[in-house]
Amino acid sequence: MNNKIKKILKKKNKSKIVCLTAYSKNIAEIVDDHADIVLVGDSLGSVLYNYDTTRKVSLNMMIEHTKSARMGVKKSLLVIDLPYNTYRNKSEALKNSKRSIKETKCDAVKVEGGTRVKEIVKHLVKNRIPVLGHIGVTPQTTKGKFRSKGKNEVEKRKLLKDAQDLEQSGAFGIVLECIYSDISKQITNSINIPTIGIGASVNCDGQVLVTDDLIGLNETNFRFVKKFGNIKKYIKNAVIKYKNSVKQRKFPSKKNSY
Ligand code: KIV
Repeated sequence: MNNKIKKILKKKNKSKIVCLTAYSKNIAEIVDDHADIVLVGDSLGSVLYNYDTTRKVSLNMMIEHTKSARMGVKKSLLVIDLPYNTYRNKSEALKNSKRSIKETKCDAVKVEGGTRVKEIVKHLVKNRIPVLGHIGVTPQTTKGKFRSKGKNEVEKRKLLKDAQDLEQSGAFGIVLECIYSDISKQITNSINIPTIGIGASVNCDGQVLVTDDLIGLNETNFRFVKKFGNIKKYIKNAVIKYKNSVKQRKFPSKKNSY
């Protein structure tokens, strides 16, 4: 097993796992110093391309962004999201996972779904592809507005079974997206692999956020997002300073000229 994955597994019940997204080298480089996992999420479809659904994201797009992120990631585990319709059956999933890992040199793939994808996950793991699962709100298969999961007993039982099936299939961890605190606690306590929450409470073994959201570059009003910074303000200030320097003929100076 990959040493980085071993280290992540050892963190369960000991210290929190930090996961963040990166879609390119410069952000990946910053995040890499502080995260255990860097995820090239298909959220890039909405964050960078303004798509109304992640279903429009292609494998080629994911591969190009992961190649860029790879240049910035030295120590964290680099995970690529397999986009919609790229893992509909075992052979398609294996072919696309192998291609993704070969072309990007990433460490693992992430797939959405629980019980529904358990045979696919088993097949990937059998073929030495490390897999991160993703249950709860799964944007690739959610139509319409996202609604948190696990409110009633039927949903709770399903989420628990999804998580247990993913563990049994050999996934090394599971992203829990937008699920109620009590069931995220129950899942986290009932499996031996780490849970990584996004909108799934502090009860998870780790947390993940979209970096563009937390630095205030991407505007979003999801309840689970906290803005930890306002990078837009800094960019704006630099752009205004540049504009003024150009207009006042202060830039480029002799120092910046040949
Ligand atoms: O696509 C993504 O960025 C994700 C995370 C939000 C978990 O799946």
